[in-house]
Amino acid sequence: MLTTKVGNLILKNPVMPASGTFGYGLEMQRWVSLEDLGAIVTKGLSLKPIIGNPPPRIVETPCGMLNAIGLENIGVDAFIDEKLPQLRKYGVPVIANIFATSYDDFQKLAEKLSSQDGVSALEINVSCPNVQEGGIHFGSVPKSVEKVVSKVKRKSGSLDVWVKLPPEIFRIKELANAARNGGASAVVVTNTIPAMAVDIKTRLPVLANVTGGLSGQAIKPIALKLVWEVASQCKIDVVGVGGISSAEDVLEFLLVGAKAVQIGSNNFRDPESIGKIIKELPDMMRGYKIKSVREFIGTLEIREVS
Ligand SMILES: Cc1cc2nc3c(=O)[nH]c(=O)nc-3n(C[C@H](O)[C@H](O)[C@H](O)COP(=O)(O)O)c2cc1C
Repeated sequence: MLTTKVGNLILKNPVMPASGTFGYGLEMQRWVSLEDLGAIVTKGLSLKPIIGNPPPRIVETPCGMLNAIGLENIGVDAFIDEKLPQLRKYGVPVIANIFATSYDDFQKLAEKLSSQDGVSALEINVSCPNVQEGGIHFGSVPKSVEKVVSKVKRKSGSLDVWVKLPPEIFRIKELANAARNGGASAVVVTNTIPAMAVDIKTRLPVLANVTGGLSGQAIKPIALKLVWEVASQCKIDVVGVGGISSAEDVLEFLLVGAKAVQIGSNNFRDPESIGKIIKELPDMMRGYKIKSVREFIGTLEIREVS
């Protein structure tokens, strides 16, 4: 009933955590039975460890959160040595989220991770400056997306490659097509939306980094529209992410065409909720007379306005 397929990867259910909101998975064992997840998506991994931005790096907003963590992580080698051996035991597909500022570093990451047992796919975060091409983000330029994907693909053996796209509202389809042309088997839509918060009293930005990324319920309608656009008009699988906080939200993303979904900020609000959402899905589906995830995906009907 819950099985789904993203690219070549079969998942026992369509729900997984979003990168950066679930640590390396292992930290969440207190609240979530990891073996129940459709997949585990790691925090973003870079070649070398990164300390991230100074605090404050997270701010609550009325219906979401703003973060500027600065991609803090232990580095790919420590992930492979310390985390992956334990993650493997759960028998759940592990999606390694990777980021870099050059094509060469992306390729090195792909090479290291694809030679390991227990990684099922790579998720490329393209919301990073491309220092080899003037510092503009990879994800803002379709040609750079295609190039980075094809370079990663060449070094990733049999692993599927997913691309985590930024919320480029006017060119999301171009970016998704570029990912497909580069050899990606899925796009993950969407990352956080650039935003800021300020303090009138101190006259300072609230985040030490000045700006950050908005996530959570505030961005759900935007994410839903982006997912619908790509899923209905581009020939590539889509994983939907943005503001999902209930089983009904999961169904909404499947309805507009997502093959699977990721849950991010909601893990901060209630770390047990991802497990509860997965458990609630079958009953909720029966309530809506949905027989299976696979037959329900992309069944949104658009009525002609007369
Ligand atoms: C604290 C925090 C850290 C994040 N770190 C990453 C990251 O390392 N790599 C990445 O691709 N996305 C990262 N994201 C983006 C999320 O994976 C997700 O795309 C975004 O938060 C939207 O989903 P949500 O509204 O369910 O949170 C991060 C988000 C948050 C809130």
